[in-house]
Amino acid sequence: MSRVLVLNGVNLGSLGTRRPDVYGSQTLKDIESYLRDEFPSVELEFRQTDYEGDMVGWVREAVASDGLVINPGAWTHYAYALHDALETLAIPKVEVHLSNVHVREPWRRHSVVSPAVDAVVAGMGAFGYRVAVDYVLHRGDG
Ligand code: DQA
Repeated sequence: MSRVLVLNGVNLGSLGTRRPDVYGSQTLKDIESYLRDEFPSVELEFRQTDYEGDMVGWVREAVASDGLVINPGAWTHYAYALHDALETLAIPKVEVHLSNVHVREPWRRHSVVSPAVDAVVAGMGAFGYRVAVDYVLHRGDG
């Protein structure tokens, strides 16, 4: 059975009540249930933290998984430590954003983690997580 780690960073635990106009009304738990329904035969490990050190540790742990999907939240835009942890991880990895960061504030357009991942999905809401999990499972299939 394939194992995929889905990591969510700072403030993503507030989904549902946080800016529903931007992020929608689904909670993180809803997104987790959606993914579990979509991928019943995948061992999904779904986590959230507001602590950057925890996130860096989890990225290192991901070496034991077949793929990593990560929404770093605001860390996306400045967390070089997260970039460095991701860069040394040799499994398929995708950065996900619920919102389309390119049509929001200018500072959201830059990601310091993107150079360390294989692909980036933004603006597709929860469906973006689905696409990302699919990608890490099938990358290399041709
Ligand atoms: C986000 C976009 C980030 O700019 C923001 O800080 C978040 C969520 C997204 O999923 O759209 O916390 O990563």
